[in-house]
Amino acid sequence: MSLSPQSRRLWRDVTLFDGLHVLPVPMTVLVAGAQVAGLWPRGEFDERLAAGAVESGRGGVMTPGLIDCHTHLVYAGNRADEFEQRLEGASYAEIAKAGGGILSTVRATRAASEEQLIAASLPRLDALLADGVTTVEIKSGYGLTLADELKMLRVARQLGELRPVRVMTTLLGAHALPPEYAGRADDYIRLVCEEMIPAAAAAGLADAVDVFCEGIAFSPAQCELVFQAAQRHGLALKAHAEQLSNLGGSALAARYGALSADHIEYLDEAGVQAMAAAGTVAVLLPGAFHCLRETQLPPIDLLRQYGVPMALASDANPGTSPICMPSLLANLACTLFRLTPREALAGMTAHAANALGLPGLGRIVVGASADLCLWDIQHPAELAYAVQAGRLRQRIFNGAVSHE
Ligand code: NIG
Ligand code: FE
Repeated sequence: MSLSPQSRRLWRDVTLFDGLHVLPVPMTVLVAGAQVAGLWPRGEFDERLAAGAVESGRGGVMTPGLIDCHTHLVYAGNRADEFEQRLEGASYAEIAKAGGGILSTVRATRAASEEQLIAASLPRLDALLADGVTTVEIKSGYGLTLADELKMLRVARQLGELRPVRVMTTLLGAHALPPEYAGRADDYIRLVCEEMIPAAAAAGLADAVDVFCEGIAFSPAQCELVFQAAQRHGLALKAHAEQLSNLGGSALAARYGALSADHIEYLDEAGVQAMAAAGTVAVLLPGAFHCLRETQLPPIDLLRQYGVPMALASDANPGTSPICMPSLLANLACTLFRLTPREALAGMTAHAANALGLPGLGRIVVGASADLCLWDIQHPAELAYAVQAGRLRQRIFNGAVSHE
């Protein structure tokens, strides 16, 4: 490996969370180019290796760059009016049935140009970046026509060009039944399977395909058709499942080898077992749980018992989780779901990487991609403990410091 001296960076005396564990002693971290090149306990570092390296920081907490593995970041408009309706007693499902909810964002998103969608989405992306995100998954699902779904995916890809962040895109055509298909859900699913998935795959616009398996959305049988079409086109699978009721969507997703089943408040033991057997990651979304004032808790103990990896994501969206602050999500996961801070952080790093099919990310180990965060705190648990902006000292993406 021949690297110019300028491309080597050194951090000293950092408390290191490696994506799974907090290391017991302060560490020295060497980055060469876009990779983590070396890790040493303080005192064991050979100072000759420091020659020519840029001294980039001392002290603080270093974590892998955060991975937000479930967002609906691209959309137009907002739903503050529905927030007020819910405060007056209307439920999320009632608002959806009355043509609001997801469909109100569909109307605004269809009417928006790509430029307008980029302008609307960048502040949300910037908020995630300012709180340590280096990889973000972005779903479509507010277009619900071939052209508008592809438009959303193009916007998501462009966001990754405009900012130093890795964007993974997911086609969520099966998010809601568009009004023009009222009473013809099977026809709409055919459009998703026969037009949207092939077009998104051919254009390289989608890394994965997601479904909303729920009474107010699509049945397990319809979701299964979407999974089959996605598999025919070589795309990874994900599911919104067991959010409001238990339809067995998570077990179905697991049977199809899905990367993740997300929400899962109503998941039962059989579903947990199916996910464990398939290696499907459980993506917890405490922002939606909080905003909808849910009371049904996801089966955290069963997930632990069966060793199902738990990821944690913002679900950033205009309806159920208008939250673009990963550290707040870590706090909510601990407070509401009783995750430990270590579990919450692993959920936003190592396990989130697996939920996106990116197992090399989300870890700080030699050879890993140098996506790192340096925080002005004493211990990693503080990230989940306190809700406070501005603690990110540096964000390192692909070895380059992009926030200081
Ligand atoms: O993940 N559950 C379905 N989809 C989103 C909500 C989308 C919306 O309300 O706009 C979710 O919670
Ligand atoms: Fe979602």
